[in-house]
Amino acid sequence: MKFIVLHGPNLNLLGRREPDVYDTLTLEEINDSIAQLADELGCSVTFLQTNAEGGLIDAIQATPGVYDGIIINPAAYTHTSIAIRDALASAGVPFVEVHLSNIHRREAFRHISMTAPLAVGQICGFGRDSYLLGLRALFSHLD
Ligand code: DQA
Repeated sequence: MKFIVLHGPNLNLLGRREPDVYDTLTLEEINDSIAQLADELGCSVTFLQTNAEGGLIDAIQATPGVYDGIIINPAAYTHTSIAIRDALASAGVPFVEVHLSNIHRREAFRHISMTAPLAVGQICGFGRDSYLLGLRALFSHLD
């Protein structure tokens, strides 16, 4: 099974970005943990971080026939991007939406997700573990 992990805007700054909210792990450390879990599960993972909405859309459009599933943290685009939602809808590749923080206990504008209604599920609030739980859950869902 092949998965792609998509990280949205500002997640490249993890480690020094609002550590009280996002902890101090870097994106590289998070990706290393995901890659280690993928090895244990016997699946492959590819990673992409981009600050650009169009970059995420291009990556999503390229998933059908290449990847079996997507783990996506659309970051702030979660709350605003109908274009990313439409890309996920037309790709039709099963995905899990993940967030480091619990978006439902933060500002009201973060309670809305454009993408979650299309997801197999949403996992938030567990920091790095949100990604690991997301991979495990999508793997079991597809297995
Ligand atoms: C986030 C939550 C979003 O509201 C925020 O804009 C982010 C990160 C998270 O992982 O907790 O950039 O997706």
